[in-house]
This record gives sequence, C-alpha cells and structure tokens, in this order.
Amino acid sequence: MRVGGRVEWFLEPTTPEELRSAVISCRERELPLRILGGGANLIIADGLLPGVVIGTGRMNRLFRIDAAVDGDTNPEGEQDPGAWSAEPSGRVAPADPSIDPRLVGWAGTTLPSLVRTARDLGYGGIEGVVGIPGHLGGGIAMNAGGRWGELWDRVELVRVIDEQGEFLDLTREQVQPGYRNSNLGEKIIAAAIMRFEPTPKPLIEQRMRENLRAKNAVQPVSERSAGCVFKNPDPELSGGRGAGQLVDDCGLKGRSMGDAMVSPLHGNFIVNRGSALATDVLALIDQVREEVAQQTGIQLELEVKRWLG
Ligand code: EPU
Repeated sequence: MRVGGRVEWFLEPTTPEELRSAVISCRERELPLRILGGGANLIIADGLLPGVVIGTGRMNRLFRIDAAVDGDTNPEGEQDPGAWSAEPSGRVAPADPSIDPRLVGWAGTTLPSLVRTARDLGYGGIEGVVGIPGHLGGGIAMNAGGRWGELWDRVELVRVIDEQGEFLDLTREQVQPGYRNSNLGEKIIAAAIMRFEPTPKPLIEQRMRENLRAKNAVQPVSERSAGCVFKNPDPELSGGRGAGQLVDDCGLKGRSMGDAMVSPLHGNFIVNRGSALATDVLALIDQVREEVAQQTGIQLELEVKRWLG
C-alpha cells in the first residue's frame, strides 16, 4: 500500500536460526515485536512504531527436499522431513525431481519465485498463486487464498518458533488452518515443506496464463494496494455476495479520502493514488464498513492486518 512510517529497530535475519535468535533477544528485552513478510496485506500506521520489526526478506531460500542436508535418511531411503537447510545453490544432484515433488521454503521466499520454481520443475498445484505478491511466511500465516484454493493446501509441514523460543514442526492436521487464518497465534513461521503434483510444464504454464488473465481483468494489480481489505462474509448471511460485491452494491466504488480510494475496478481493494496517508486509508476502511453495515446489516471483518503503533 506504500503508506506508514518508521520503526525503532529493523532486523533482517538470513536463516531460520538467526530468526530464532532475533526473536529470543526481543522477548528477553520485552520489546514489542512484529514480523514483516512482503507487506502485501498490511497497513502500517503513520509515525514511529515502537519496538522491533523483523523482516524476512533475506530469508529468501527455496530448495528441493532432496537437496536438504541436515536431515537423516530413514530406513526406506526417504529424506527425513526434518531437513530444513541446504548447501548453497549448485549442489543439487540431478535426480528426477518428480520422485519426491516437495520443496522446502524459508519464510522469506517470495510467492512469485515459488510459483516460477514450481513451474520450472513441473510441480503443479500452486499456479493459482500466480500474480500474488508477498512472502511464503506471511502467506502461510494468514492462509492466503482465492478461487484456486489456499496456501495450506500445499503445506505438509511448517517449522515455527514457539512461545518458548524453540523450533516446533507442525503438520496441517495439528495446525487446523481456517479461512484466511492459520491459527498459529504467537508462533512465528520460519520455514515450510510443500508437496506438489508432478504435472507437464505446458499445462502449468497454460493454467498460470489463464489465472493471471482472470485476475488482471478484475483486480487493480498494477496499483498500490494491500490486496483484499475485507474477508468474504458467510455466504448464508450475504446471499452469496463477496465483500467486493457488497461494497459495489452499496455504491461505494470510487469513494475516496485524501489519496486513498475504493478501487473502481474491484470493491474490495483500496488503492493509494499517490500520497495517501495511513490515516486516510484507515478512515476510508471505517467508512466503507459502516456504510455496508447500515445498508445491508452485514459487519465486514478485516482481512488486511493493521499495525497501529
Ligand atoms: N464483484 C462485484 N463487484 C466488485 C467485485 C466483485 O460484483 O466490485 C463480483 C464479481 O463479479 C464476482 C464476485 O463478486 O461475481 C466474486 O469476485 P472475485 O471473483 O473478484 O472474487 P472475491 O471473492 O472478491 C477472492 C479473494 C481474492 C482472490 C480472488 C480470486 C477473498 C476475500 N478474496 O476475491 O483474494 O484474489 O478471490 O481468486 O477471499 C486477497 O486475499 O488479498 C485477495 C485479493
């Protein structure tokens, strides 16, 4: 969205272990702590945020599971899913990648690089994510999704830093992710193992093209936004209308506050037309929420995260 101010301390760990050390240091000092992924679904308040932000941008590593080095091999010869690191690139044996179609991604892996890599390896099942910005950690934390499904559909195991500062590996069954929410609470995502479907590359490319075309037609993809502002309400309450359609039906597209405007293309996006302040964006969100509640009786819930200081 390109709004918001500064933070007192910004830390950039490069490995899961460094992330853990940074988290422990902040907790020991009792400093307010926030984790920043790609910032794609986030509105940061104007001014100075107290405490620490840990950015995952330098933890941008993605590798095939058979390149992982610190796990043991079990008696069946399969890689132990506890393998979370790899040698620097170039050391991956040229085995048939379809034999074990899994990737290990650290929290800062960008979703676009995940989609590209999966395509190059012939790993299907993630092409619906095409065109979505942000990082893997943030995407898993909020269970990003759309018509194609959710990020957790591909996640087999997630490595988190728990409330005690220890690494903990959790399966999908243990986490029970929900709609735009992974139920991880205060746990911080360090890395994840994802499983794909071996798929012919041309088919993946075709699906990517179609998904991108559909998305570009209805979303303001080239403008500054924070993605969908509201969660879609329970279809039973809204008669099957999503948040975007409700905002649209209430005649709020194009409504603005300073340089913040409800996108004329899709009612669930607010775009920054130039020099919007976080205050403008937040006030516009409140206005839209109130008007929708007044006109339809439906209370929209926020999908975007807000850091209010
Ligand atoms: N619609 C309108 N007016 C609008 C916007 C939408 O009438 O201003 C109608 C559309 O014509 C369509 C229906 O509402 O019939 C649904 O719209 P759309 O296909 O755009 O999907 P959505 O439910 O609004 C969801 C996700 C998006 C994701 C898309 C496509 C949520 C809250 N949103 O949107 O996710 O990109 O599906 O898969 O789940 C995000 O999470 O940031 C996000 C953008």
